[in-house]
Amino acid sequence: MFYSEDIIEDVRQQNDVVEVISSYVKLQKKGSNYMGLCPFHNEKSPSFSVSQSKQMYHCFGCGVGGNIFTFIMEYENYSFTEAVKYLAERAHITLPEGEFSEEEKRKADTKQSLLNIYKLAATYYYYQMYNSPKGKLAYDYLKGRNLSDETIKKFGLGYSNVSGGLYGYLKSKGYEDTLLNMSGLFSYNEKSGVYDKFWNRVMFPIMDVNNKVIGFGGRVMGDSKPKYLNSPETLLFDKSRNLFGMNIARTSRRRNIIICEGYMDVIALHQAGFNNAVASLGTALTGMQANLIKRYTESVLLTYDSDEAGVKAALRAIPILKDVGLTVKVIDMRPYKDPDEFIKNMGADAFEERINNATSWFDYETDALAKNYDLTDPESKTKFFNELAKKMLEFTEELERNNYAEAIARKYNIELKNFQKLINYYGAQNIVKSESINNFSKKDDKVNAKTDMIKEAQKLLLTWFVEEQRLFELLEGIITPDDFSDDLYKKAATILFSQYKESKNVVPAKIINAFESKEEQNEVALLFSTNIGEIVDNNGERKDFMELTIMERETYLNQLVKKIKLYSIEEQMRNSVDMSVFQQCSKQKAELQKMHITLGTV
Ligand code: UTP
Ligand code: MN
Repeated sequence: MFYSEDIIEDVRQQNDVVEVISSYVKLQKKGSNYMGLCPFHNEKSPSFSVSQSKQMYHCFGCGVGGNIFTFIMEYENYSFTEAVKYLAERAHITLPEGEFSEEEKRKADTKQSLLNIYKLAATYYYYQMYNSPKGKLAYDYLKGRNLSDETIKKFGLGYSNVSGGLYGYLKSKGYEDTLLNMSGLFSYNEKSGVYDKFWNRVMFPIMDVNNKVIGFGGRVMGDSKPKYLNSPETLLFDKSRNLFGMNIARTSRRRNIIICEGYMDVIALHQAGFNNAVASLGTALTGMQANLIKRYTESVLLTYDSDEAGVKAALRAIPILKDVGLTVKVIDMRPYKDPDEFIKNMGADAFEERINNATSWFDYETDALAKNYDLTDPESKTKFFNELAKKMLEFTEELERNNYAEAIARKYNIELKNFQKLINYYGAQNIVKSESINNFSKKDDKVNAKTDMIKEAQKLLLTWFVEEQRLFELLEGIITPDDFSDDLYKKAATILFSQYKESKNVVPAKIINAFESKEEQNEVALLFSTNIGEIVDNNGERKDFMELTIMERETYLNQLVKKIKLYSIEEQMRNSVDMSVFQQCSKQKAELQKMHITLGTV
């Protein structure tokens, strides 16, 4: 950390967790928390919870959690420092300069050097296209694919000439091998030593939303394989978080974003006036990319290839896009393979027309489903309707479900009443199924080993401390941070206890930064997000904490404290060979049996 703790705390306090996360995730107030669809995994119903009082978030689905810093780090792929800077700026806090730790400085330097290398590489490839004898071939290739000079320039397309060219160029600029190695633009083998990964290819620079070159795609000009080579992921380049063309599409005046499969599709569309087109980077579309798109628009149009692979990719992408709340439509490119070929043959106006006739995602999915059945055969047709009915359960809102059911009934000529019955039938089954899953995990809890039970108890008590801070006084002299056997909990407890001692108040969100690894941060966040509402008592029964009477709570607290303390004392005895310690522990044990904490009235 290279900003003082005071400053970090100031930045944290000036960035309300609900407010900031709301600009990324649609949140809805549920009880004392806010719930939304988790941006870090794909889900249909919200399990991402944000607590204003604790200034923390936690996902009950995938387990991520933390404070506003970890959220920004995770979401924006920022380092801690970058997150502090970003949030400081957001809150109009001026950060002091020059408080870099050596390591942070080195990392920032490396990132900057890599950015410089990529920029130089892009300029080099561009230069090669116009100034080397073979570069003319690349230029002619692009012209042959109908690209104008303006387009070539706009996308910074270039040509990688002979192997070793870029390496020599960057060496002449003074870059060290270690850094060049990190750039991913070079390879090494015994025979030829270091060589350029890209040679004799047309080069497509990949830029982030800030127009910085972070990667390359390189295409062969003939038919050899692989058709495209992509630069690997680096400190700069995360394929799952970037989209080709987004740097331009984000400034487009068109209201939606067109997603296609290939670099050339994006370029052809931009040239035809559809400068809202983007493509993923040789990999399937991810949730993070969907989130990136969501920052700039509400609705997307898919124009994937017309072949089977394209249809599959579209069917995969639809739920990912819908999960972040985007409206999805699909554009039909047939009889052409992809947007590039479509535009080449039919022109921009025809494409605009296809946009206007785009199919809703739901029709697209049902059409794809229908293809698996022979609707002239009664048996096959029945199966199809059964599948459709199950699919309808994806709509959790009744009104929406009914509207779509109506549309289906009309489209496939089935009596609405009968179709509704089928939906209700599967709906009822679905409830039974999800209940039995719950039972299963309940059983799992019971099977937990003793240490897990102790850990669970410690977790609950820590949560309780945060929720009901008078416990610090009530349990003074009884429970100390050392009673938490789990290292992580011990560390969290130590910080909590000292916070309370200093200010008679605890700030869980402040604790997160004391933990370095993401896993630890997630676990600590979980600690403070666990609802004490979900209490499993000694009989393994689940009880709602809020509905317990004060007496029941008191009993529960005593059980919990005794369980934890007893374990802690016994551990001490096990680990000690000192007779006096042994005796003292025995005495403590006896006292513990007699002890009773009175909760009194709240
Ligand atoms: P396509 O094979 O559909 O290529 O791959 P394309 O975009 O239509 O390209 P042209 O028109 O033949 O030049 C779609 C995308 O999949 C990735 C690239 O990102 C490409 O743009 N891809 C494809 C690879 O990464 N490697 C390959 O070998 C092929
Ligand atoms: Mn193509």
